[in-house]
Amino acid sequence: MTQLLDGKALSIEIKNEIANTVRRLTDAGHRPPHLAAVLVGNDGASMTYVANKEKSSHEVGFVSSVYRLAENTTEQELLATINFLNNDPEIDGFIVQLPLPKHINEQNVINTIAPQKDIDGFTPLNIGNMVLGRPCFTPATPLGISTLLHRNGIATEGKHCVIVGRSNIVGTPLANLMSRNRETANCTVTLCHSRTANLASLTRQADILVVAIGQPEFIGPEMVKEGAVLVDVGIHRLPDASRKSGYRIVGDVRHSEVDPLCSWVTPVPGGVGPLTIVSLLQNTLQAYRQHHNL
Ligand code: GUN
Repeated sequence: MTQLLDGKALSIEIKNEIANTVRRLTDAGHRPPHLAAVLVGNDGASMTYVANKEKSSHEVGFVSSVYRLAENTTEQELLATINFLNNDPEIDGFIVQLPLPKHINEQNVINTIAPQKDIDGFTPLNIGNMVLGRPCFTPATPLGISTLLHRNGIATEGKHCVIVGRSNIVGTPLANLMSRNRETANCTVTLCHSRTANLASLTRQADILVVAIGQPEFIGPEMVKEGAVLVDVGIHRLPDASRKSGYRIVGDVRHSEVDPLCSWVTPVPGGVGPLTIVSLLQNTLQAYRQHHNL
């Protein structure tokens, strides 16, 4: 029987826990945590993500603000906004929503974010600390995946975790997280990518298979071992004339064929996505505590 890794339900549970913590802090006379987001341009998916982050922030009692900049904003103007946020003591942490318009250098932007406010965990200092196993902000999607596995009681120790996709946001930091010497990790990790030879022979060895390649319905049943735990990070809109909306949402996995093989699967939507947002809230609370010595 396939069981669901229900990210939506778990995110509600954890948001309630965060809301209780915030209530205790504000009852004791402290100001609430403040998360800010910077959104450049009008990318539809990015606008949805930022709106979801804002909604979730309010649900847990955080203050939330969004800095909306035009598509033709210069890199210098964006860096000035980041410096403003770096120096505003009322803001505990912020994210710059990616991707950015092509005329802006993403690395320059990330390098400008103050590491102590980098709740996405994207700055070089944060990534370096993470790789060394030192205190850091763990990137939100990898942290969300780890939380989803752990809170559903899925054993990771000694398991073979195969990750498909080596992005800076998901695959690369997740490979590090899952191989750590920690009770919630201790996996043997294989990181696969677009140049991997015999991909299916590797994915078929996975006890835990994480797919984050950004290609709709890429993984089929011939690539998955019976009883595997399957985590699908992908989310895509495919045109579908049979739907009233005109589209359907799919992941990187062909779920109707693959799910019956698996012991656990994340649905799309409602799997990894809600936990990514929860992780960002957890990181904001961590930043707040560090700033206030709480
Ligand atoms: N775009 C897609 N995922 C993310 C994320 O986790 N953080 C930011 N800032 N942008 C993203």
